[in-house]
Amino acid sequence: MAQLTRFSSMLRAALDGGYAVPAFNVYSMESIMAVFRVAKSLEAPSILALGERYFQNMRPATARALVDSLLQANALDNGCCQIGLHLDHAIDPLSCNEAIEAGFTSVMIDTTHLPFEEQIRITCQVVEDAHVKGVEVEAELGGLAAGHASHEFSTGVETLTDPEQVHEFVERTGIDALAVSVGTVHGLYRGEPHIDLKRLEAIRSKVSTPLVLHGGSGTPEDLIRAAISRGIAKINVNTEVSLAAIQRLREELGVRPDIHMADVSKITIQAMEETIGDYVSRFNASHRLHLF
Ligand code: 13P
Repeated sequence: MAQLTRFSSMLRAALDGGYAVPAFNVYSMESIMAVFRVAKSLEAPSILALGERYFQNMRPATARALVDSLLQANALDNGCCQIGLHLDHAIDPLSCNEAIEAGFTSVMIDTTHLPFEEQIRITCQVVEDAHVKGVEVEAELGGLAAGHASHEFSTGVETLTDPEQVHEFVERTGIDALAVSVGTVHGLYRGEPHIDLKRLEAIRSKVSTPLVLHGGSGTPEDLIRAAISRGIAKINVNTEVSLAAIQRLREELGVRPDIHMADVSKITIQAMEETIGDYVSRFNASHRLHLF
């Protein structure tokens, strides 16, 4: 049976290869199919990231079953692709347990609203539960601001990652990837993006763990490349994929008011695929399938 690809293997290969693994938020059959199709056609290692906030749309077990069926069909077709299934921004450790049980490859525990020692305590617990099942863990230090159309339920108050805390946090928790706050925002930028590359360099000098950049939407290509060359191995994208699909649907509904839902589904996938493909190229992730 076709397998999902290990989180740390994907991120380490990206660090070595000078690209970032794209992680797209998924919450529906359309979003999962769109990421899957682009991953396959561009031969791009890709991560499907179900946010805890999307559990009302789809539970982890359903996402896993859908991804399994796509992987199986692809294998029968002799297709090649590398896919990870990740839990994004889980505030509740029980959500991590649900994703671990469902067979996700990685989970992100978000303790950014808590004091440092409490962050360590909860993250350690999730790492223990995850590693015993062969699942890997991402955690975040600092927090991102909320930009336009942000769909996260974090506080939205920006706290840049303190490089002085990074080594202790990674060592004491045993996490596999560290998300950092260096100026990207969840949602679209309200002005010019300012990425603190010096801070990213300082963080990188403290740990060799793969680093993750949240808030990929709208981040210009030159800043993405600069971040990748400073240790960013995974970049998350959500808002712009959704906005692209909504814009396309608005246009279609304008000229086809009696459109059938089956066509809405197809148009959604198509619009998402175009934006996803654009981000895969910006992250330099096309044609990067490795043998692990
Ligand atoms: P954007 O919505 O800004 O792309 O951020 C996505 C994200 O970081 C999900 O964790």
